Amino acid sequence: MSTKRIWLSPPCMGGDEIRFIEEAFRDNWIAPVGPHINQFEAELAAYTHTKNVVVLSSGTAAIHLALIILGIRPGDHILCSSFTFSGSANPIKYCNATPVFIDSEVDSWNMSPELLEEAILELTAKGKKPKALILVHLYGMPAKMDEILEITSRYNIPLIEDAAEALGSSYKGKMLGSFGDIGILSFNGNKIITTSGGGAFLSGKEEYAAMAKHLSTQARENEVHYEHKFIGYNYRMSNILAGIGRGQLRVLDQFIGRTREINRIYKQELMDTGAKFLEEWSPDCFSNFWLTTMLVRDEQERNRLIARLDEDNIECRPLWKPMHLQPVFKDELSYTHGISEELFSRGICLPSGSGLTDADMGRIVGCIREVIG
Ligand SMILES: Cc1ncc(COP(=O)(O)O)c(C=O)c1O
Repeated sequence: MSTKRIWLSPPCMGGDEIRFIEEAFRDNWIAPVGPHINQFEAELAAYTHTKNVVVLSSGTAAIHLALIILGIRPGDHILCSSFTFSGSANPIKYCNATPVFIDSEVDSWNMSPELLEEAILELTAKGKKPKALILVHLYGMPAKMDEILEITSRYNIPLIEDAAEALGSSYKGKMLGSFGDIGILSFNGNKIITTSGGGAFLSGKEEYAAMAKHLSTQARENEVHYEHKFIGYNYRMSNILAGIGRGQLRVLDQFIGRTREINRIYKQELMDTGAKFLEEWSPDCFSNFWLTTMLVRDEQERNRLIARLDEDNIECRPLWKPMHLQPVFKDELSYTHGISEELFSRGICLPSGSGLTDADMGRIVGCIREVIG
């Protein structure tokens, strides 16, 4: 067995991160307040072309605050992509609201606009008009934005755009995360850039961002004593982690250049095997290809492939298991037509970290070819 473990998407540092951490130590800003936080927010706002950014302890926290700020009450129905990581959906339950999971469509693997509209019409007819939509851009791929924006504006449903995996991706030149009433990002350890753990809340609305900042710092009022008018949360990012984020943001475009190159190499090297890849579904799409994802013949082949790669010390995983199949969400409403179930059974995430070398790629491709020819 080769000794070097190849991970799916390990952190990759650019170099400036340590300098920013040292600055934080030198100036004693070891708190969820400090200059790196302000500057990271300003730099993210500039990068994503969003007016207001609030950096937080996680992407999940950002979704939770988004739901609170949109006024979600217990029992409200919240539409959510089914094909996603549980972090997209858990905050719905934190609010004691009711998730309604919507299946994928085949081009983007993201939410099906047809099923979305069907759910809205059916729930509205029952007097349960959904109060918000959590739309995910999975693996960095833009969802069908034109159709979805048309639906959210026609039915007047606030949009929370979960761009946790899609920092740097765009649709028609507009950055993902900047389309929604609120957008969210994740800087978890496996993301395209990381602060070891962290997230961001994005909004064009200043009052939403001000509220997110207030709630994330325990909703402390501007008084000398501790005064609270709202239930608050301890969700703010620390100044040290924001320093890491600033260093990472400087190399983000370089990382995306490499993840896109990795995607191109996989496709080129495996094109003749019959494997299918998630592709940019329109010339208007630009994906960060956070992970390269591939469909093989069936579940058995998928399992054989994962086992073979593991034998060679290469990490590789199935695609996300849809939320409507998760035991924890088994009693929730869902609108499905089998697409995400099929993606889950045949799909695989390939190692895609921006630090992968061409030699690593050769090793991975060699193992894959042993299984799928
Ligand atoms: C699609 C998606 N949404 C939400 C999250 C939650 O982000 P975090 O881990 O920063 O809480 C993640 C990833 O972790 C994710 O992949």
